[in-house]
Amino acid sequence: MLNIAPAEAEFAALQARGAAFLGTELAIMGGAMSWVSERNLVAAISNAGGFGVIACGAMPPELLEKEIAATQALTSKPFGVNLITMHPKLDDLVQICLRAKVGHIVLAGGIPPGPAVRAVKDGGAKLVAFAPALVLAKRFVKSGVDALVIEGSEAGGHIGPVSLTVLAQEILPHIREIPVFVAGGIGRGEAILGYLEMGAAGAQLGTRFAASTESIAHENFKNAFLRANARDALPSIQLDERFPVIPVRGLFNEGTKKFLKHQAETLEKFQSGALDKTAAQLAIEHFWAGALRRAVIDGDVETGSVMAGQSVGMVTRVQPVAEILAELKHQAVAALLAREQTRAHAQNPD
Ligand SMILES: Cc1cc2nc3c(=O)[nH]c(=O)nc-3n(C[C@H](O)[C@H](O)[C@H](O)COP(=O)(O)O)c2cc1C
Repeated sequence: MLNIAPAEAEFAALQARGAAFLGTELAIMGGAMSWVSERNLVAAISNAGGFGVIACGAMPPELLEKEIAATQALTSKPFGVNLITMHPKLDDLVQICLRAKVGHIVLAGGIPPGPAVRAVKDGGAKLVAFAPALVLAKRFVKSGVDALVIEGSEAGGHIGPVSLTVLAQEILPHIREIPVFVAGGIGRGEAILGYLEMGAAGAQLGTRFAASTESIAHENFKNAFLRANARDALPSIQLDERFPVIPVRGLFNEGTKKFLKHQAETLEKFQSGALDKTAAQLAIEHFWAGALRRAVIDGDVETGSVMAGQSVGMVTRVQPVAEILAELKHQAVAALLAREQTRAHAQNPD
C-alpha cells in the first residue's frame, strides 16, 4: 500500500514557518480582494485551515469595525485585515484592528508609513507588507515588518511590472529573517510546493477564492471566471506616457475597450485646450470609479472591472473553499510522492 505519510510530513515541514506565523494549519493566505473578501469568504478560508484577510479598501472606520466583528462571529480562527496605505483614515483603521485584537495587519498599496508601522507594532499585531523589489524588502525587514508578500504581475487587481518567477528569484534567497509569502498566478499545489522549496514561507491566492461557493461575488462574475483563460486576464493599457494609468489586471471586456476610447477622447480634449493636464488626468483616473463593485456585486461583467489573475484559467468550477484548500494540499503532497516513487524506481528498477 502507498505510504503517503512521509510526503505529508515533508510538505508540513516545508510550510511550517508560514503556518506558525499565521497561526493556521496551512500556510495559504486568501489575498484581500475589495468587495469580495468580506466576512463570509474570510471566515470560510480561516475555518478551512487557511488564512482569510478582510479587504478594507475604501471602507470608513465604522464599517470596518462592523466587518471585523461579523467575521469574528463566524470564525474563532485567526484572520487578517488588509488596509490601503493611502486611505485618509489609515491611523483610525489601524486602531480599530488593534482594539478588535486582529492579529495580523497587511498594509498594501505603497510603502507603509512610519507612524502606521509603529502603531501596529506597539499594538502587538503582526505587520505584513508587500515588497515589490529586493531593496524595499531589505528596508522593510529593518523597519520591523514581520512578514512580506511578493506579488508578481500575474496577479489580479493592481499589479507591478515584474512576474513572480523573477521576483521570487530576486528576493527569496536574500530574505531569511522574516517569512515571505508568494502571490500572483498561483492556481495549483505543485506551484506552491515549488515556491516553498525556493524558500517561500507560504502562498497567497486571490482569483481561485473569488470564484468559490462562499464568495459573495455575483454569479455573472464567477461565470466569467469559469469561461476565461489565462490570456483573457490582461493589464490595463495606458495610451499616453503623459497620463499614467495604474496597471490593473482583469478580464478584457467592453469596459476595457471603452477605457481606451475614453483615454483617446480625453487626450484630444487636452490637446485642443478644452481640458488642462490635471483635469485630463483626473478624467482618466475616474473612469473606473465604482467599476469593481459594479462587476462583483451587481454582476455587470460587460462594463465593470472584472479583476482577475492569470490563474483564472485554472478556475474550472465553483468549489467550496475547503475543497480548494484540500485540493491545493493534495496536489503538493502528490507531487512529492511522485518524486519519491521516481527516485525509488531509479534506484531499484525491478
Ligand atoms: C477581484 C480582486 C480584487 C483585489 N483587490 C485587492 C485589494 O483590495 N487589496 C490588495 O492588496 N490586493 C487585492 N487583490 C490582489 C489579491 O489580494 C491577490 O494578491 C491576488 O489575487 C493574487 O493573484 P491571483 O489572483 O493570481 O491568485 C485583488 C485581486 C482580485 C482578483
